[in-house]
Amino acid sequence: MGIREELERIGKDTLQDLGKVTDTQTLEQLKVRVLGKKGSLTALLRGMGALSAEERPKMGQIINEYRARLQEALDRKMDELSAREKEARLEKEALDITEPRDKVEIGAVHPTQAVLREVLDCFTGLGFEVVEGPEVELDHYNFELLNLPKNHPARDAQDTFYVDDNIVMRTHTSPVQARVMLSRKPPIRVVCPGRVFRADEIDATHSPVFHQIEGLVIDENVTMGDLKGTLDAFARKLYGEDITTRFRPSFFPFTEPSAEVDLTCFNCRGKGCRMCKGTGFIEVLGCGMVNPHVLEMCGIDPEKYSGFAFGIGLERITLLRYGITDMRLLYEGDLRFLRQFR
Ligand code: PHE
Repeated sequence: MGIREELERIGKDTLQDLGKVTDTQTLEQLKVRVLGKKGSLTALLRGMGALSAEERPKMGQIINEYRARLQEALDRKMDELSAREKEARLEKEALDITEPRDKVEIGAVHPTQAVLREVLDCFTGLGFEVVEGPEVELDHYNFELLNLPKNHPARDAQDTFYVDDNIVMRTHTSPVQARVMLSRKPPIRVVCPGRVFRADEIDATHSPVFHQIEGLVIDENVTMGDLKGTLDAFARKLYGEDITTRFRPSFFPFTEPSAEVDLTCFNCRGKGCRMCKGTGFIEVLGCGMVNPHVLEMCGIDPEKYSGFAFGIGLERITLLRYGITDMRLLYEGDLRFLRQFR
């Protein structure tokens, strides 16, 4: 086949293919097939070497003109197709700014945290400072410095998670007391909130992880009257003016004397109900005057200074605050429960 016929065939085929192309990608492939390095028209130009010297320029001109025309046709089609594709893309990406969106859900402060904030607010209002300590604690701070030497029977009362012989998951927030006494000089007035751990089975009133708020006051001439006044103020602030405290003698190795404190039942306001088992009172905390031996071990002169400490169970007072009867509700994260506190 002569070069001319070949040229015409390429031209016709290309224009025919061009008519069928509907997207830029296929068009690009067509372009490569004809005008690319290995394209049919390019091959034709290369084949000119076989022509005679006088035929060559003439033929070259013809092929180049052809090439320019095809190129132009391809370019035009390319412009047309890419414009159409761009339009389609924009249409697909269009935002309908009038479309209603998903409702924004407003969260709520968890009841335990809400009560914690209230309690801390109450104590900072009385001049206390908030201090925190480690949850993984040395036996030394959790027990020894609190007058609970190894083999002391009272250690059994707190079913301890041991990490090793000397390290425990703290069973109460009282080790923070010891840390504060060792690192500061009186007057001391701190509250220490935090998580504590005990190997308890989960039920309506127990959990292996719960929260306490420890309080500690050390100064000259601090008396049990100060302790009672402080806890009375706390009870009234949290539950109302008609709430009173009831002190019952108790025992803690780190306080002497010690007491357990009940508050007027928040549910029946003292009349007696299911929640307080008919007594009108509910036990919420342990407290006492810091044992002089503990003061001594923590570097404070018991001849000069005295103090009181208390430990409040946060879950306890949260349940009371809202009349919740099962502590597990505080941990389960059930939205049907939590939504009520919005
Ligand atoms: N640490 C005690 C407990 O966990 C509570 C307490 C704190 C008692 C401070 C007296 C003084 O049971």
